[in-house]
Amino acid sequence: MTNMHYRIMKIDNISPKNNLMLAPMAGITDSPFRRLAKGGGAGLVFTEMLSASALARDSRRTSAMLKFSDDERPIAAQIFGSELSALEKSAEIIVSMGYDMLNINFGCPAKKIIKSRAGSALLKDLKSYENVIAAAIRGCGGKIPVTVKIRPGITPDDDRTEDYVRAAESSGAAAIIIHGRFVSQVHSGDVNLDSIARAVAVSKIPVVANGGIVSEISAEETLAKTGCAGLMIGRAAIGDFGIFRRILYYLENRESLAAPSREERIAAYKEHARLSAEFHGARCGVIILRKLAAFYLKGMPGAKRTREAVNKAETLDDFCAALDGIFEPPCEPCGEHGREA
Ligand SMILES: Cc1cc2nc3c(=O)[nH]c(=O)nc-3n(C[C@H](O)[C@H](O)[C@H](O)COP(=O)(O)O)c2cc1C
Repeated sequence: MTNMHYRIMKIDNISPKNNLMLAPMAGITDSPFRRLAKGGGAGLVFTEMLSASALARDSRRTSAMLKFSDDERPIAAQIFGSELSALEKSAEIIVSMGYDMLNINFGCPAKKIIKSRAGSALLKDLKSYENVIAAAIRGCGGKIPVTVKIRPGITPDDDRTEDYVRAAESSGAAAIIIHGRFVSQVHSGDVNLDSIARAVAVSKIPVVANGGIVSEISAEETLAKTGCAGLMIGRAAIGDFGIFRRILYYLENRESLAAPSREERIAAYKEHARLSAEFHGARCGVIILRKLAAFYLKGMPGAKRTREAVNKAETLDDFCAALDGIFEPPCEPCGEHGREA
């Protein structure tokens, strides 16, 4: 049965408390986000992708993105790049910062990344793919495991899952995360569970499935159809950190926990803003969180009006007051909830 898988994964010397992972998401999975995901039940969290070249050059901005707190552990840093010396050097930095794992991005479809022959561009060139893994492993010096995050291929008519799995394994990777959409699909459309199942079939190291896991049902379906060792959740965790706990509970007990109420979601958004302000500074921390309004307020009456108010907030107090506006009665002329912006 499916519920045996998520408890037993070990990635080299790392044993997350469960096999549910928070996906790396650029501009989103900063330290406050990861702490909240951990609190919501995630077993392993990832930084957003960081440029190996920028890290190796000691770019202050990129190095600042490596900061994390102990309650995020176990934590993996994700890097992207194609320059071998930079990959090796950045891996050394990540080890020295105390990370538990290094992950290499082989799935990013962004033009800028592909132009630098990194991310998903490396899926076109197996030799470079292997060299990149080997360089990261050299930099880690056996102190922390190196894992990879891949896609099944560039387009559906060129599914090379088995090649990527075998090459990662023979290069020394400790686990493989597969976002089951082809690069050409970017982040939408069907997830190819069949590709992930084939990866599981040929792999001797743990395979983690990613893509389209948005509920207990999709989590169970992904486990059942692929036999994967773990699940990685991206967008569904934005504004709903408890998704990890609910999925775990369902897999263990075959019963669903209640989804968070409107009040709980608003309280969680405020708490996120508080942590963000603490980490990034009062004004910056609040402004960063404006972009998550659509996720936190999804489906709520008065969401549009509240989003507009949130987008004007520059202090934590204004931000929280804007959110409280969602509980005010609808205003007569427009029928929307909340205070006048
Ligand atoms: C806004 C955004 C940023 C992302 N940034 C990264 C990244 O930095 N590194 C990475 O490997 N994948 C990144 N991804 C892909 C996610 O990790 C994940 O593979 C994808 O969203 C599919 O999972 P989901 O369907 O659960 O969201 C990003 C996705 C989104 C939506």
